[in-house]
Amino acid sequence: MKIAISGKGGVGKTTIMALLAEQLKRDGKQVLIIDADSSPHMAQTIGLADPGKIVPIAEMKTLLVERSGKVEGSPFYNINPQVDDLLARYMVEANGLKLMVLGAIEGGDKGCACAENTVLKRMLTKLLLSPSQVVLLDMEAGVEHLGRGTIAGVDHLLTVVIPTQSSIRTALKVKKLAGEVGIKSVRFVGNRVVDEEDEKFLAEGLGESPIACFPDSPAIARAERRGQPIVELVETVQPQIRQLLAALA
Ligand SMILES: Nc1ncnc2c1ncn2[C@@H]1O[C@H](COP(=O)(O)OP(=O)(O)OP(=O)(O)O)[C@@H](O)[C@H]1O
Ligand SMILES: [Mg+2]
Repeated sequence: MKIAISGKGGVGKTTIMALLAEQLKRDGKQVLIIDADSSPHMAQTIGLADPGKIVPIAEMKTLLVERSGKVEGSPFYNINPQVDDLLARYMVEANGLKLMVLGAIEGGDKGCACAENTVLKRMLTKLLLSPSQVVLLDMEAGVEHLGRGTIAGVDHLLTVVIPTQSSIRTALKVKKLAGEVGIKSVRFVGNRVVDEEDEKFLAEGLGESPIACFPDSPAIARAERRGQPIVELVETVQPQIRQLLAALA
């Protein structure tokens, strides 16, 4: 199963992905998290001891250009680069979770993330997983990346939404664009939901109820401030995670 996550900035995408990863690991799955945010933050969230040591794939410029199949001096990409071995070479492991950081190419072509997006797209469409393997893709806020079709190969796109108008607007845009690039399962996940009024607000704004609603958790907020791995708090949101996973099954 390949699951990506999206939503407005700061709504809790990385937090929910990390909690989901931890639960899947405890359920006996092999979990690979791909951090595709250009300001990656997943390593800290899952408690990697020394996140500074991770080499993002984007820093392997020569390799990337090779793997994305970009023909020198031409805007076109070769169609059949090999990407399988990248996984093994650039994965780090923390607390039984595997993590790969995509990063972003800076300077040069002014932050155009073409090469790493092409590599990511290949990985998502070509990776064949056994039923016990799960790939979780944490992404940048907003909808821009959806237009590129990079994540068309995922089975599910979770869209995190908090009870605010602006977050709902972004979530609806995500759903529309994701449908256009052919992602069949786009599901809303509520976060920082305090009461029934919040739940009702989300359901009305979205036109459907989220598949699960995570509470506004002082423990999560505190853990983040202390730099404590969020995965340690998975028990505190067990019913919500179970509900989420049941909806995807
Ligand atoms: N359910 C929650 N209860 C309390 N705090 C939360 C909850 N979910 C997320 N947070 C806090 O909100 C902040 C943003 O969370 P997070 O980094 O997961 O969001 P994001 O959507 O990944 O952000 P970005 O768009 O920057 O990638 C963090 O400080 C996190 O600890
Ligand atoms: Mg994030």
